[in-house]
Amino acid sequence: MKKLGLGILGSGTGSNCRAILEQIRAGNLDAEARLVVADVFDAGILEIAREFGVPNVYLPPGKFRTRLEPGVEMELVRLLRESDVELVVLAGFMRVLKEPMLAAFPRRIINIHPSLLPKFPGIESWKQALEAGEKMAGCSVHYVDAGIDSGEIIAQRTVPVLPGDTAESLHARIQAAEHALYPEVIAQFCAA
Ligand code: GRF
Repeated sequence: MKKLGLGILGSGTGSNCRAILEQIRAGNLDAEARLVVADVFDAGILEIAREFGVPNVYLPPGKFRTRLEPGVEMELVRLLRESDVELVVLAGFMRVLKEPMLAAFPRRIINIHPSLLPKFPGIESWKQALEAGEKMAGCSVHYVDAGIDSGEIIAQRTVPVLPGDTAESLHARIQAAEHALYPEVIAQFCAA
């Protein structure tokens, strides 16, 4: 059976990327990571791609802080298409995608977010959950649309907020849930 071609985009550590690549390596995911793209030159996610032998590229984002320059975003579309990417997986990618990407990959771009959306979109959601006194936290995988963390939710995983939790301990628990959930959701796309 033909494997699902993944393009993984990130800006940072890449622990979710690692979790996905490990599941592919273990034979648990009928997917092939065809390209890893980072908008940060020394992002750990590029190092992880190299470790797993996945083609990878640093894409200089241009002059904006929260999005890609339009020409750069068109270049991103070109790179992903050239690599036969069928599903775009955002794994800690810190820029909002715009029309070029959204039009090129309709319902084929997914993101993971460290909260039970629609609660706590935006940054450092685990801190928001802790400060709000939530008893439960978690993570969500959703389709990417033009908003911030606003697309249709595909799956969620819940973790408890424990007495004595710090931002760090809660974040670590949520990340462990992310590493299990994201490959499971990608497996659904492989089977579809
Ligand atoms: C994850 O917590 C994810 O929910 C958020 O960015 C973080 C990326 O972490 N969107 P990593 O780079 O995968 O370690």
